[in-house]
Amino acid sequence: MTRQFTGEKLLLATHNKGKLEEMTHLLIPYAVTVVSAGEMNLPEPEETEDTFVGNARIKAHAAAQATGLPSLSDDSGITIDALNGAPGVYTADWAETDDGRDFMMAMTRAHEELEAVNAPCPRSAQFRCTLVLAWPDGHDEVFEGVMPGQLIWPIRGEYGFGYDPMFQPDGLDLTCAQMIPAEKHKISHRGQAVRKFVEACFSG
Ligand code: IMP
Repeated sequence: MTRQFTGEKLLLATHNKGKLEEMTHLLIPYAVTVVSAGEMNLPEPEETEDTFVGNARIKAHAAAQATGLPSLSDDSGITIDALNGAPGVYTADWAETDDGRDFMMAMTRAHEELEAVNAPCPRSAQFRCTLVLAWPDGHDEVFEGVMPGQLIWPIRGEYGFGYDPMFQPDGLDLTCAQMIPAEKHKISHRGQAVRKFVEACFSG
């Protein structure tokens, strides 16, 4: 039986601005005060696991222990079929530079690796999101969402974050960066996972 969320405050255990905006927006309809890890000055724990759920658990439990609040983390990324699922849990690492994250560089790498293996089009890929809600007593609940699509080149669009400009969801001619946030949330991996979370934990 899924444990219900009964508190008033929920800590969003992420320092990623794009994820934070999306999660905050998705939680607006629910009676919950959202607090961010940044507002609480929480350090970013090292993500040492090789699965999305493993890394999401690290982030959620670290935040719940540090604050005493139920804490919701997001570990997400893109899996590219022709690259055997890469970059997967290393999605953010592909953007790392000495001066912060550079997603143009990360998308260019994805495109170049696909070219190097002569991957046929459509170049199928999935955005994946694992949410973990952890309580200070160590209990947790896990929720997942997947959005299938293809990687396109050149990139298109100005909205969103991360790899959105090169990801075209199945059945659409637009990339995620050409969709207004509400349209992306209807189908996105994060939208699906947040809806599962609220259905399971806010149902009363
Ligand atoms: P992590 O979960 O902190 O390891 O980072 C996951 C990475 O996946 C982020 O840095 C984003 O670039 C990428 N990512 C996750 N979700 C999305 C999305 O909805 N759009 C674009 N990129 C995403």
